[in-house]
Amino acid sequence: MTAPNVNHILIAGVGGLGTSMVHEALERELTVSVLVRDRGRLRTRLDAGTIARLSRITIGDATNPAALDRAMQDVDVAISGNGAHRRMALAMAEAVKRNGVQKLVWPAGGSNAMDEDGVTPAYKRLLDSWPGAEQAYLAHQACIDAIRGAGINYVIFGPGRMTPAGHRSPDVAATVRINRVAGMSISYEDAAWVMLEAATTNGWDRELVSAAT
Ligand SMILES: NC(=O)c1ccc[n+]([C@@H]2O[C@H](COP(=O)([O-])OP(=O)(O)OC[C@H]3O[C@@H](n4cnc5c(N)ncnc54)[C@H](OP(=O)(O)O)[C@@H]3O)[C@@H](O)[C@H]2O)c1
Repeated sequence: MTAPNVNHILIAGVGGLGTSMVHEALERELTVSVLVRDRGRLRTRLDAGTIARLSRITIGDATNPAALDRAMQDVDVAISGNGAHRRMALAMAEAVKRNGVQKLVWPAGGSNAMDEDGVTPAYKRLLDSWPGAEQAYLAHQACIDAIRGAGINYVIFGPGRMTPAGHRSPDVAATVRINRVAGMSISYEDAAWVMLEAATTNGWDRELVSAAT
Protein backbone atom coordinates (compact mmCIF):
# COMPACT_ATOMS: atom_id res chain seq x y z
CA MET A 1 0.00 0.00 0.00
CA THR A 2 1.39 3.41 -0.95
CA ALA A 3 2.25 5.53 2.09
CA PRO A 4 0.77 9.03 1.99
CA ASN A 5 3.04 12.05 2.38
CA VAL A 6 6.28 10.42 1.32
CA ASN A 7 7.95 12.82 -1.05
CA HIS A 8 11.36 13.85 0.27
CA ILE A 9 13.91 11.03 0.54
CA LEU A 10 17.38 11.22 2.09
CA ILE A 11 19.99 8.76 0.82
CA ALA A 12 22.97 8.51 3.18
CA GLY A 13 26.01 7.06 1.40
CA VAL A 14 26.19 7.06 -2.39
CA GLY A 15 28.24 4.00 -3.34
CA GLY A 16 27.08 1.18 -5.65
CA LEU A 17 23.62 0.74 -4.12
CA GLY A 18 23.28 4.45 -3.26
CA THR A 19 23.91 5.47 -6.88
CA SER A 20 21.16 3.18 -8.15
CA MET A 21 18.85 4.44 -5.38
CA VAL A 22 19.38 8.08 -6.45
CA HIS A 23 18.43 7.14 -10.05
CA GLU A 24 15.45 5.06 -8.91
CA ALA A 25 14.18 7.84 -6.60
CA LEU A 26 14.51 10.53 -9.29
CA GLU A 27 12.74 8.26 -11.77
CA ARG A 28 9.88 8.07 -9.26
CA GLU A 29 9.84 11.90 -9.26
CA LEU A 30 10.63 12.08 -5.56
CA THR A 31 12.54 14.95 -3.96
CA VAL A 32 15.99 13.48 -3.35
CA SER A 33 18.70 14.69 -0.95
CA VAL A 34 21.98 12.96 -0.15
CA LEU A 35 24.43 12.83 2.74
CA VAL A 36 27.98 11.97 1.60
CA ARG A 37 31.41 12.23 3.14
CA ASP A 38 33.14 13.62 0.06
CA ARG A 39 31.79 15.85 -2.72
CA GLY A 40 34.52 14.73 -5.15
CA ARG A 41 33.57 11.06 -4.74
CA LEU A 42 29.92 12.00 -5.34
CA ARG A 43 30.97 13.53 -8.69
CA THR A 44 32.59 10.23 -9.69
CA ARG A 45 29.32 8.45 -8.94
CA LEU A 46 26.72 10.80 -10.44
CA ASP A 47 26.86 12.90 -13.62
CA ALA A 48 26.42 16.66 -13.41
CA GLY A 49 22.81 16.51 -14.64
CA THR A 50 21.86 14.07 -11.88
CA ILE A 51 23.66 16.12 -9.22
CA ALA A 52 21.77 19.22 -10.40
CA ARG A 53 18.49 17.42 -9.74
CA LEU A 54 19.32 16.76 -6.08
CA SER A 55 17.41 18.90 -3.63
CA ARG A 56 20.23 19.12 -1.03
CA ILE A 57 23.72 17.73 -0.69
CA THR A 58 24.99 17.51 2.90
CA ILE A 59 28.67 16.80 3.32
CA GLY A 60 29.30 14.90 6.54
CA ASP A 61 29.63 11.55 8.23
CA ALA A 62 26.47 9.55 8.83
CA THR A 63 27.63 8.74 12.36
CA ASN A 64 27.68 12.47 13.22
CA PRO A 65 24.42 13.65 14.86
CA ALA A 66 24.84 17.28 13.70
CA ALA A 67 25.41 16.23 10.08
CA LEU A 68 22.42 13.88 10.27
CA ASP A 69 20.20 16.64 11.69
CA ARG A 70 21.17 18.98 8.82
CA ALA A 71 20.62 16.22 6.26
CA MET A 72 17.23 15.17 7.66
CA GLN A 73 15.57 18.60 7.64
CA ASP A 74 12.12 18.28 5.99
CA VAL A 75 12.88 14.67 5.02
CA ASP A 76 10.04 12.11 5.03
CA VAL A 77 12.06 8.86 4.82
CA ALA A 78 15.78 8.20 5.34
CA ILE A 79 17.53 5.42 3.42
CA SER A 80 21.02 4.15 4.09
CA GLY A 81 23.37 3.28 1.25
CA ASN A 82 25.73 1.63 3.72
CA GLY A 83 25.27 -1.40 5.97
CA ALA A 84 27.20 -3.54 8.47
CA HIS A 85 28.04 -0.40 10.47
CA ARG A 86 26.39 -0.53 13.90
CA ARG A 87 27.40 2.97 14.95
CA MET A 88 25.92 4.42 11.75
CA ALA A 89 22.72 2.38 12.21
CA LEU A 90 22.34 3.65 15.75
CA ALA A 91 23.10 7.27 14.82
CA MET A 92 20.71 7.21 11.88
CA ALA A 93 17.95 5.57 13.94
CA GLU A 94 18.32 8.16 16.69
CA ALA A 95 18.33 11.00 14.13
CA VAL A 96 15.19 9.59 12.48
CA LYS A 97 13.48 9.69 15.87
CA ARG A 98 14.78 13.16 16.80
CA ASN A 99 13.82 14.71 13.47
CA GLY A 100 10.35 13.16 13.13
CA VAL A 101 11.35 11.22 9.98
CA GLN A 102 8.73 8.57 9.16
CA LYS A 103 10.99 5.59 8.54
CA LEU A 104 14.55 4.27 8.14
CA VAL A 105 15.26 1.83 5.30
CA TRP A 106 18.50 -0.07 5.88
CA PRO A 107 20.50 -2.65 3.85
CA ALA A 108 21.57 -5.82 5.69
CA GLY A 109 22.62 -9.17 4.20
CA GLY A 110 20.78 -11.89 2.30
CA SER A 111 21.65 -14.41 4.97
CA ASN A 112 19.96 -12.40 7.75
CA ALA A 113 16.53 -13.53 6.56
CA MET A 114 15.20 -16.85 7.83
CA ASP A 115 15.41 -20.20 6.09
CA GLU A 116 12.17 -21.96 5.09
CA ASP A 117 11.44 -23.13 8.66
CA GLY A 118 11.04 -19.47 9.68
CA VAL A 119 13.40 -19.70 12.70
CA THR A 120 16.84 -20.68 11.39
CA PRO A 121 18.88 -17.74 10.01
CA ALA A 122 19.78 -18.47 6.38
CA TYR A 123 23.53 -18.00 6.96
CA LYS A 124 23.71 -21.42 8.67
CA ARG A 125 23.01 -23.17 5.36
CA LEU A 126 25.84 -21.20 3.71
CA LEU A 127 28.62 -21.99 6.18
CA ASP A 128 30.09 -24.87 4.11
CA SER A 129 30.48 -22.77 0.96
CA TRP A 130 31.11 -19.38 2.64
CA PRO A 131 33.26 -19.50 5.81
CA GLY A 132 32.67 -15.77 6.43
CA ALA A 133 28.90 -16.17 6.48
CA GLU A 134 28.55 -16.04 10.27
CA GLN A 135 30.72 -12.94 10.58
CA ALA A 136 28.70 -11.15 7.89
CA TYR A 137 25.46 -12.24 9.57
CA LEU A 138 26.62 -10.92 12.96
CA ALA A 139 27.76 -7.55 11.55
CA HIS A 140 24.38 -7.03 9.86
CA GLN A 141 22.43 -8.40 12.82
CA ALA A 142 24.06 -5.84 15.15
CA CYS A 143 22.61 -3.09 12.91
CA ILE A 144 19.19 -4.76 12.75
CA ASP A 145 19.10 -5.06 16.56
CA ALA A 146 20.17 -1.40 16.98
CA ILE A 147 17.43 -0.19 14.62
CA ARG A 148 14.75 -2.40 16.19
CA GLY A 149 15.82 -1.26 19.64
CA ALA A 150 15.45 2.42 18.72
CA GLY A 151 11.65 2.16 18.60
CA ILE A 152 11.32 3.71 15.12
CA ASN A 153 9.54 2.56 11.98
CA TYR A 154 11.91 0.75 9.61
CA VAL A 155 12.32 -1.70 6.77
CA ILE A 156 15.44 -3.88 6.60
CA PHE A 157 16.36 -5.23 3.16
CA GLY A 158 18.69 -8.24 3.00
CA PRO A 159 20.25 -8.48 -0.47
CA GLY A 160 22.66 -11.21 -1.49
CA ARG A 161 25.66 -10.25 -3.61
CA MET A 162 24.88 -7.07 -5.57
CA THR A 163 26.29 -6.33 -9.03
CA PRO A 164 25.36 -3.70 -11.63
CA ALA A 165 23.18 -4.96 -14.50
CA GLY A 166 22.58 -1.67 -16.30
CA HIS A 167 18.81 -2.10 -16.12
CA ARG A 168 16.04 -3.15 -13.76
CA SER A 169 14.58 -6.62 -14.31
CA PRO A 170 10.82 -6.81 -14.87
CA ASP A 171 10.16 -9.40 -12.18
CA VAL A 172 11.88 -8.13 -9.03
CA ALA A 173 8.54 -7.50 -7.28
CA ALA A 174 7.58 -11.16 -7.69
CA THR A 175 10.75 -12.31 -5.91
CA VAL A 176 10.25 -10.29 -2.71
CA ARG A 177 9.84 -12.40 0.42
CA ILE A 178 9.16 -11.22 3.95
CA ASN A 179 11.56 -12.67 6.52
CA ARG A 180 12.45 -15.63 4.30
CA VAL A 181 15.58 -15.79 2.19
CA ALA A 182 14.84 -15.18 -1.49
CA GLY A 183 18.29 -15.97 -2.91
CA MET A 184 21.87 -14.78 -2.75
CA SER A 185 22.28 -12.39 -5.69
CA ILE A 186 20.52 -9.33 -7.05
CA SER A 187 21.41 -6.38 -9.30
CA TYR A 188 22.02 -2.95 -7.78
CA GLU A 189 19.13 -1.67 -9.89
CA ASP A 190 16.70 -4.25 -8.53
CA ALA A 191 17.95 -3.76 -4.96
CA ALA A 192 17.37 -0.02 -5.39
CA TRP A 193 13.80 -0.72 -6.53
CA VAL A 194 13.17 -2.74 -3.35
CA MET A 195 14.68 -0.01 -1.13
CA LEU A 196 12.55 2.73 -2.74
CA GLU A 197 9.45 0.58 -2.70
CA ALA A 198 10.09 0.00 1.03
CA ALA A 199 10.47 3.76 1.51
CA THR A 200 7.30 4.79 -0.31
CA THR A 201 4.86 2.04 0.70
CA ASN A 202 3.99 0.67 4.13
CA GLY A 203 3.33 -3.05 3.54
CA TRP A 204 6.83 -4.05 4.66
CA ASP A 205 7.08 -1.75 7.68
CA ARG A 206 8.97 -3.32 10.64
CA GLU A 207 9.89 -6.33 8.48
CA LEU A 208 13.07 -7.80 7.02
CA VAL A 209 12.54 -8.35 3.30
CA SER A 210 14.62 -10.25 0.79
CA ALA A 211 14.62 -10.37 -3.02
CA ALA A 212 16.78 -12.01 -5.69
CA THR A 213 17.10 -11.60 -9.45
N1 LIG B 1 27.79 -5.16 -2.31
C1 LIG B 1 27.25 -6.30 -1.95
O1 LIG B 1 27.38 -7.33 -2.65
C2 LIG B 1 26.43 -6.38 -0.66
C3 LIG B 1 25.77 -7.57 -0.36
C4 LIG B 1 24.97 -7.62 0.79
C5 LIG B 1 24.85 -6.49 1.59
N2 LIG B 1 25.53 -5.34 1.25
C6 LIG B 1 25.36 -4.15 2.11
O2 LIG B 1 24.89 -3.10 1.30
C7 LIG B 1 25.64 -1.91 1.55
C8 LIG B 1 25.75 -1.13 0.24
O3 LIG B 1 26.50 -1.91 -0.68
P1 LIG B 1 27.40 -1.19 -1.77
O4 LIG B 1 27.93 -2.25 -2.65
O5 LIG B 1 26.65 -0.06 -2.36
O6 LIG B 1 28.59 -0.60 -0.87
P2 LIG B 1 29.59 0.59 -1.26
O7 LIG B 1 29.71 0.74 -2.73
O8 LIG B 1 30.83 0.35 -0.46
O9 LIG B 1 28.85 1.90 -0.72
C9 LIG B 1 28.81 2.24 0.63
C10 LIG B 1 28.73 3.76 0.69
O10 LIG B 1 28.50 4.14 2.04
C11 LIG B 1 29.27 5.25 2.31
N3 LIG B 1 29.59 5.33 3.73
C12 LIG B 1 30.25 4.43 4.49
N4 LIG B 1 30.38 4.87 5.75
C13 LIG B 1 29.79 6.08 5.78
C14 LIG B 1 29.61 7.05 6.78
N5 LIG B 1 30.05 6.84 8.03
N6 LIG B 1 28.97 8.20 6.47
C15 LIG B 1 28.51 8.42 5.21
N7 LIG B 1 28.64 7.54 4.22
C16 LIG B 1 29.28 6.39 4.50
C17 LIG B 1 30.55 5.11 1.49
O11 LIG B 1 31.01 6.42 1.28
P3 LIG B 1 32.49 6.81 0.78
O12 LIG B 1 32.34 6.90 -0.71
O13 LIG B 1 32.74 8.11 1.46
O14 LIG B 1 33.41 5.71 1.22
C18 LIG B 1 30.02 4.45 0.22
O15 LIG B 1 29.71 5.39 -0.77
C19 LIG B 1 26.99 -2.39 2.06
O16 LIG B 1 27.50 -1.43 2.97
C20 LIG B 1 26.70 -3.73 2.71
O17 LIG B 1 26.54 -3.58 4.11
C21 LIG B 1 26.32 -5.27 0.17
